[in-house]
Amino acid sequence: MSEEKVIILDCGSQYTQLIARRIREQKVYCEIHPYTLSPELIRGNATKGIVLSGGPASVYGKDAPRVDEELFHLDIPVLGICYGMQLMTSVLGGEVAPSREREYGKADLRVDEPSEIFKGLQKGKTYRVWMSHGDRVENLPSGFKTFACSANSPIAAMGDPNRKLVGLQFHPEVAHSEIGDQILHNFLFHMCRCRGSWDMKSFVKTSVQRIKEEVGEQRVICALSGGVDSSVVAALVHQAIGERLTCIFVDNGLLRKDEAEEVLSTFKDFFHLDLRFVDARTDFLTRLKGVEDPEQKRKVIGELFISIFEKEAKKLGTVEYLAQGTLYPDVIESISFKGPSATIKSHHNVGGLPERMELKLIEPLRELFKDEVRKVGKELGFPDRIVYRQPFPGPGLAVRVIGEVTEERLKILREADAVIQEEVTHARLYQEVWQSFAVLLPIKTVGVMGDERTYEHVIALRAVSSRDGMTADWVRFPYELLGTMANRIINEVQGVNRVVYDISSKPPSTIEWE
Ligand code: XMP
Repeated sequence: MSEEKVIILDCGSQYTQLIARRIREQKVYCEIHPYTLSPELIRGNATKGIVLSGGPASVYGKDAPRVDEELFHLDIPVLGICYGMQLMTSVLGGEVAPSREREYGKADLRVDEPSEIFKGLQKGKTYRVWMSHGDRVENLPSGFKTFACSANSPIAAMGDPNRKLVGLQFHPEVAHSEIGDQILHNFLFHMCRCRGSWDMKSFVKTSVQRIKEEVGEQRVICALSGGVDSSVVAALVHQAIGERLTCIFVDNGLLRKDEAEEVLSTFKDFFHLDLRFVDARTDFLTRLKGVEDPEQKRKVIGELFISIFEKEAKKLGTVEYLAQGTLYPDVIESISFKGPSATIKSHHNVGGLPERMELKLIEPLRELFKDEVRKVGKELGFPDRIVYRQPFPGPGLAVRVIGEVTEERLKILREADAVIQEEVTHARLYQEVWQSFAVLLPIKTVGVMGDERTYEHVIALRAVSSRDGMTADWVRFPYELLGTMANRIINEVQGVNRVVYDISSKPPSTIEWE
């Protein structure tokens, strides 16, 4: 375990993970807990600071997150962000009220008072920050001073220097707050006196230790896909419990060109773990016959995967745990109770498996973003072909063959996709983009080749940039590259006479077409 840590108490903000990420970037270990965590459990030598996150509630609302006043008497610095600041105010006897105008988006913060949290910033100067609030602090709790203001918040930052309590109405964790990193640095290193020695090496150490403690002498299985997430999970669990981990790789016939062979050979060369290979290509294709609806496809694939996995697991005797590479964006997409995201596509990992097999879950990456997982992969010494592999959906090419999935259509798509991978790699753009791939459309169009009329399939090219897959923009590939890909696909892939480029962003579109 880390010798120093910061505890983030989550009051429901969509940015809580971002706070954690910004703190990790400053090499300080942090943990996210629900706001209900008792001060007793927070107290301890290792806790150097506490952050109260933002949240959608109003402090006076029914069921609004509330913390024990004791939290502010632990002699540990506390940073309240947005709702966290209002909560601190309300608990310590100050006053919060609805502002006349909601402040949303960019705002100018004027620093009025020197303080530890604003160390390095100039008094009287304004800085661009990002706000998102309806309520604001009207009266300070006793012992507090105002540090800064903005147009709509006379108290945009406040603090009690003696008790080392500080509140910010804006969000230092979002990239639009230009002084955000500086402020978090000041909190961590000046107020909390952290040393900042945490890194991905420490992450590996901590995770391995936790897995060891949790699993004890039990057995774990892991579905391996060849992507960076499941590979990192497998490697961590393997370091923790050695041969009590079994990995299962299923070829569902929906993989890209030569993918199964490549994954198997990489794993043979690189990892020395117990890997079972299941060739289920025929099963999947048979079940997908006649299925056109995207959700139905996912359902069929998910269920079949579960039953294959279950059969394989039974051969191993008693297995208690399932390890999977759930990342933070998967967590919020699936628990997003307000937004529609959870039901847009039923995504991610092997949902259904844990309940059916009564397995407990091990998800060591559930607090990380993809680029952090890649850093862990690097730390573990993974080759680049795993670390920088673009994400690939669980249902594979089935959601890229629009309409019914047949062997013939998969073959066309695989060949077209291989051209894209080759050309994007050749242009040194493979690692620059989040995903680049081909989609096969269920229509035919007229073309002319030689002197002959053709009537063949259309391939759509899709390339997006994204940080976490939750939002995305289409990539402005050079025309030359687009031209080369289109020419090669039409010339080399039998059955295709037209290529189009998808220029939609997410939202309102999604990355995959189904
Ligand atoms: P969408 O299409 O929802 O995709 O914008 C966001 C990211 O998730 C991947 N994706 C999936 N991953 N199972 C998965 O494991 C799925 O069913 C699935 N659908 C989409 C997609 O490739 C992108 O990276």
